[in-house]
Amino acid sequence: MNQNSSPQQQISIGQALGIAGLAGTIFIATKAAERFHMGIQDAIIAITISVGVIGAASMGAMMIFKRKPKKAKSSGAEIVLAKAIHQEWWKADQALPIGMQDFRHILVTGTTGSGKSTFIRRFIEQILSKKKNFLYIDFKGERDDLDQIGKICKEQGGSDPLQVFDISNSEKCITFNPLTVFESVEETVGFISSVFFDENSNEYYQSEAERFLRHSINLLDAASETRTFESIQKIYYESTARSSLLKASKKSAGLIVADYETFFTKEFEALSPRDRSERYSGLMSILAAFNSNELKRIFSPEGESELKLANIFEAKRNLIIRVPGEVFGDLSARIVKAFIKIIPVLLVKRREERNRNEYCLLFDEGCSYMDETMIEILKKAGSANVKMLITRMCDADFQAKDPSFLGRMLSSFNLFVCFQTMDPDTRDTLARISMTIQDTKATSRWSQGADTGEASVRDVQRFRIHPSDFGTLKTGECFMIAPTLNLYQKVRVLPPESTRVTA
Ligand SMILES: Nc1ncnc2c1ncn2[C@@H]1O[C@H](COP(=O)(O)OP(=O)(O)OP(=O)(O)O)[C@@H](O)[C@H]1O
Ligand SMILES: [Mg+2]
Repeated sequence: MNQNSSPQQQISIGQALGIAGLAGTIFIATKAAERFHMGIQDAIIAITISVGVIGAASMGAMMIFKRKPKKAKSSGAEIVLAKAIHQEWWKADQALPIGMQDFRHILVTGTTGSGKSTFIRRFIEQILSKKKNFLYIDFKGERDDLDQIGKICKEQGGSDPLQVFDISNSEKCITFNPLTVFESVEETVGFISSVFFDENSNEYYQSEAERFLRHSINLLDAASETRTFESIQKIYYESTARSSLLKASKKSAGLIVADYETFFTKEFEALSPRDRSERYSGLMSILAAFNSNELKRIFSPEGESELKLANIFEAKRNLIIRVPGEVFGDLSARIVKAFIKIIPVLLVKRREERNRNEYCLLFDEGCSYMDETMIEILKKAGSANVKMLITRMCDADFQAKDPSFLGRMLSSFNLFVCFQTMDPDTRDTLARISMTIQDTKATSRWSQGADTGEASVRDVQRFRIHPSDFGTLKTGECFMIAPTLNLYQKVRVLPPESTRVTA
């Protein structure tokens, strides 16, 4: 396997000494033959012995002068995530710096326990040291992973503390009001609707729910009341709440009869309780889930939303969103979906801003929320100076309904971090990413069980990294593949300094 195509491969001090030593030996032995009138055989013996002695000495020198980290050909801030593992035994492992400007998005692939989350933590530590910020979305990870990231953030300093939105710890979780992320009513309605409904939902009920939401939000805004899921639920169930909001809204609306007023006083009022519950049952059952005792404090906060998603990219703040699937089942999935749906909108807004500091979006267990929004995010992130890192186990994680989805996802990345992979399809995909190289294959001719001594050599194409090589990697080892950087290197990921256990 060819692993020596990385830009870091140069002649070491040891190798230089070896070459110089060889040249010196030949020169001295020739002079010695002349000077001492030796025969040619004696000269050859002298050269051989000298080469042996000096060769051994230069090997020693190689071991002593361990190669220092060399600079990768890169621009901008450099981060060190791993050490290169060389096939040649005399080459010492060497740090592999990568320029932040040199990659767009990173795809991390690997089986359970292969080292993906450890890699993310190393990545976080390195970007923090370069004064970049991150948003980490975790659908599954252990609480311990979170604590370790907290420790890394603490050690790396920074002006703002790490914010943690951890739904599995609902008593301590910071508050988040999905209705106040966007100022615009239309954006808010569209966003809430996309979280509550999907392509299988009945179009009529979805559009009716959107109308109800639109009128409710307009009514709350006109009455200068905070938009919350709880207040929308009250508008639905309590006629006294509707009347007092309509009264308060009159102050700002004046004599004009607003659409929401007509809707609530005429249309909604005229519906029988049965018709209401039929038309809005889907919307109300989800609102009830968000307003349950456990979640009300988070999603219908009394004060301002503590999680200010609208300006995450601007604030020099790091944020963790942890929504383990097993905690609230389908509701967890909707909450994750909500966060993912917000991101493209925020990215578009970020594009228009100047002086944007590089920002990183990290998705561990990326498989849990793979749909078209992810491709949209990957596309928009690049032009908004946002880098993405997604981890996955295998190709199947990217096999959404659309057969082209896997290919479209893969083409969005230009740095592939490939840990141990057992799945044959995924190994083939990764080998293809490493591309083929020209090689020669010698075939000898056999006749009646004996080698005839005749041989033919022909050109063949083979994968630079063979599919089976992805199965032999140890924990923490991976191939870093970046065709645009001509990087095809086996490496050992460095655990983060902050959490390294010292013996
Ligand atoms: N680079 C590394 N150096 C040393 N040990 C490592 C390294 N990476 C991982 N490990 C060890 O392997 C264990 C599992 O690693 P990690 O949690 O990063 O795997 P994972 O791929 O995220 O697994 P999962 O799919 O279960 O989330 C770690 O707890 C650590 O002990
Ligand atoms: Mg993990």
